Amino acid sequence: MPRNNLKIKVFSGNSNLGLANELAKKLNIKLGEVEITKFPNSEKRIMVKEDVRDKICFLIQSFSNPTDENIMEFLLFCDALKRSEAEKIIAIIPYFGYARQNMQFREGECISANVVARLLSLYVDKIITVDIHDPTIEGFFNIPLINLKPYEVFYNEVKKIAHISKVCIVSPDSGGVKRAREFGEVIFRKNFFPMAVVDKKRDRQAVGKAESYDVFGDVKNKVVFIIDDILSSGGTLRRACDICLEKGAKKVFAFVTHHDLVDGVLEKLLNCKIEKIFTINTIADIWGLKDKKIFKELSAAELIAQEIKKYY
Ligand code: R5P
Repeated sequence: MPRNNLKIKVFSGNSNLGLANELAKKLNIKLGEVEITKFPNSEKRIMVKEDVRDKICFLIQSFSNPTDENIMEFLLFCDALKRSEAEKIIAIIPYFGYARQNMQFREGECISANVVARLLSLYVDKIITVDIHDPTIEGFFNIPLINLKPYEVFYNEVKKIAHISKVCIVSPDSGGVKRAREFGEVIFRKNFFPMAVVDKKRDRQAVGKAESYDVFGDVKNKVVFIIDDILSSGGTLRRACDICLEKGAKKVFAFVTHHDLVDGVLEKLLNCKIEKIFTINTIADIWGLKDKKIFKELSAAELIAQEIKKYY
């Protein structure tokens, strides 16, 4: 029987209902009732159909493609909850879009992550997210931000595919070194382990284009585990895989938290030399990755459920 005497309520926007439903099942609760209307001119309207007065409301929404629409839907949802006198709103943002735009890469650019942070600060009391691109974004907020690390979710898979003594952890760019180190510490259960870094250069004039040149570290005869936060055009991952194989790696597996794929990338990935890409359901599986042999989608539900349970 679902629990209804709790101080908390869990609501979900439309962006990732699969994960939201899984989470509700884990928590043994029903998702809060809401009416989300999309008018023919694309405007949305949200109506909360539950008594949320004095409740702590968790609101799940991935800021994934269509990013702007999902963010706007989230903000409207918050407004509806506030007007219904929710005591607190805790945002659960499994995928935090715009996080890659965290600084002015070229003079004259906006800093989108900062804009999103300021908008969120107007409505929510706390943010729970998963593997945000750059954890220092926390500094954009005046509210708590919990960045859940996905390494234990991946760890269960690691044990099935290779003996740890043969593994080398690879970051596909210098920005991901900290993530790779943390992942390595979890799977090796110690601080020192074989690690390498791909030297990736980005062309800031061309959207989503990157060139990788070399790999620093010894991957020869190793089973390479590439760890990254986002899979989008797939360029970073494919180049990292190719360079590791060129340098003598035996096999390459990838662990990438968010599958924020763009058009046309799936075909390219299906033909690349990666053994398997492990990813997590922080974004709805609109590409049918579940049916593709190269992908294995894991769940973030337990990771997030543990955070919500702290409020029981
Ligand atoms: C970049 O700094 C990120 O950590 C990812 O490596 C990047 O966003 C992946 O993008 P793509 O798949 O388009 O190369």
